[in-house]
Amino acid sequence: MGYAEEYQRSLTDPEGFWSEQAAFIPWFDAPAKVLDQDENGAWRWFRGGKLNSCHVALDQHVEQGRGEQTALIYDSPATGTVRAISYQQLLEWTARVAGGLSALGVGKGDRVVIYMPMIPETVVAMLACARIGAVHSVVFGGFAAPELAARIDDATPKVILSASCGIEFDRVIPYKPLLDEAIRLAAHKPGHTVICQRDQARAELQDGRDLDWHAWEAASTAAPCVPVDATDPLYILYTSGTTGKPKGVVRDNGGHAVALNYSMSAIYGVDAGDVYWAASDVGWVVGHSYIVYGPLFKGCTTILYEGKPVRTPDAGAFWRVIAQHRVKSFFVAPTAFRAVKKEDPDCLLQAQYDISCLKYQFVAGERLDPPTYHWLQAHLPGVPVIDHWWQTETGWSICANMAGVELLETRAGSPTLPVPGYDLRILNDAGEELGAHEEGAIVIKEPLPPSAFPTVWGDHQRFQDSYFSQHPGFYLTGDGGYRDEDGYVYVMGRIDDVINVAGHRLSTGQIEEVVAEHPAVAECAVIGIADADKGQVPMGLMLLKDGINVQPEALQAELVQMVREGVGAIANFKRAVIVQRLPKTRSGKILRQVMRKMVDGEAYTVPSTIDDPAIIDELRATLENADVL
Ligand code: COA
Ligand code: AMP
Repeated sequence: MGYAEEYQRSLTDPEGFWSEQAAFIPWFDAPAKVLDQDENGAWRWFRGGKLNSCHVALDQHVEQGRGEQTALIYDSPATGTVRAISYQQLLEWTARVAGGLSALGVGKGDRVVIYMPMIPETVVAMLACARIGAVHSVVFGGFAAPELAARIDDATPKVILSASCGIEFDRVIPYKPLLDEAIRLAAHKPGHTVICQRDQARAELQDGRDLDWHAWEAASTAAPCVPVDATDPLYILYTSGTTGKPKGVVRDNGGHAVALNYSMSAIYGVDAGDVYWAASDVGWVVGHSYIVYGPLFKGCTTILYEGKPVRTPDAGAFWRVIAQHRVKSFFVAPTAFRAVKKEDPDCLLQAQYDISCLKYQFVAGERLDPPTYHWLQAHLPGVPVIDHWWQTETGWSICANMAGVELLETRAGSPTLPVPGYDLRILNDAGEELGAHEEGAIVIKEPLPPSAFPTVWGDHQRFQDSYFSQHPGFYLTGDGGYRDEDGYVYVMGRIDDVINVAGHRLSTGQIEEVVAEHPAVAECAVIGIADADKGQVPMGLMLLKDGINVQPEALQAELVQMVREGVGAIANFKRAVIVQRLPKTRSGKILRQVMRKMVDGEAYTVPSTIDDPAIIDELRATLENADVL
């Protein structure tokens, strides 16, 4: 079946389409309903079905004779380690850790926060939670203590799993002081933390609360899989929304297993036994879906890479890993290839490696800018470079060129066409559908396909308000864009206050909350401005309190430090400019998009609702003086 037929069928007969895909999942009890709505009116897939996501990822493969196959390759230039772990070994390890969690009183539905670097224990921790029906919430290791505290308070975990340190290039980052500070800041206190001690930096453990991972694991006995409902939560993953408070995206077990299993063959073109590599971090949705669950559901070998595209040891790192482990399908953020291109513009290091195993190159996480696309495609002759667009909320692609169904013509700047299950439209503010080349809000008609989130943790109203209130019956993606005459989708960027910094999704509100804490700042706005390496970086515009006299450079340095401590170094907040006034509407809404376009040199329209039009020229002059324009 070609793409067009497959896509049409998914929209005209979603239940038939997805029940066929559900047949590939080893259910304990088959679903009673393919699709219906819950008491909140949210669409739910596979109600009545019982399964266990750890069983789908590990036990089924061992039962089917894949026990000896490598499940996970831990490749860590950071520590000089390459280690292969078979399905049998990963299963035994996970079962032990699951038993350890049960012994700490963690049961079905309880939350476990995981704040860990890219080590095999992190994958084991996630699967162990799934095994006993507990809900994991992985927090990216680059977030600072207050961000971790906010997630602890929202998820209220019984236990937190962590490690003594992470490694960034050659820098050791101790995690324990950040964890201790987060627990101090949080109102909710976990019963225990379990700390995986790494040789690079050992953590001090607090008697009674902190346990040593290795001793804890050694004393544990294996736990079996607990059957859960298809609609039970597997994990919560916090992501940035338009306010400073992160949103807990909830993923269920059944729809997730079905959609991810489908995506591995249909989108990524891999099958059981193939080697698949997503060079992301387990703290992001890409890591959840395509370092851990997707490849393991499918019976692939997945790679956990604790390194960077460059300087670990050089810009040939990606080619080395592909060649050494015979990777068939590789997935990474464009920013990573921009880093490679900067250090090795002619891609000379690639020649040292035999990368003939590579069949597909996937990119996502931010817009694939045409120059990066052309560079990459020129250096990967015969390997299609496939941009695909997706979000934490969906857990898998909304648009992609589907390598396993039918490879279509690629167009630079476009993630091609919608994936089966996604009825995509482009709407204007009035909710009218736009024609070819007309830019508007990208929305998806309900119901969303399996794996898409059914709610925001503990706040269903926020789910409704943020995503479904603007255009009833449609999911608002938060991205803007257009389609061409053949329906190819072009995703141009966020239309809300979310920014994307080096493939990391952040909210300007999150950074504004920290900047506003500075005693000299009366009011501020943070905007995401274009950056050649990182895609976007945040910039602060501040109004000072009356009578305050500070050196702009000194203030900027203090704010940079505050954002590093309040949000994390990943925010890449380096620029803060003092302004006299901020442009606002008469109702007080700050016109961030106008300021962003002004700084990026794009055409902007000043809305008629602006409070005082004179402020635009005044702001231009200030930004010119500050060398921003
Ligand atoms: N723990 C602690 N600190 C971290 C961190 C982590 N897990 N990840 C990044 N940081 C720090 C960095 O060390 C850096 O600190 P510095 O300002 O003191 O130098 C800062 O955060 C900024 O990091 P980043 O913007 O990521 O730059 P980088 O040079 O460290 O790495 C890339 C560049 C391209 C390798 C990296 O941005 C990347 O891999 N991005 C892709 C993200 C991704 O996979 N997204 C998911 C969609 S596919
Ligand atoms: P996250 O939820 O962290 O995966 O971030 C999702 C956001 O990243 C999307 O809403 C987009 O703004 C952006 N994004 C991800 N992939 C792409 C892509 N292929 N093209 C354009 N933007 C993308």
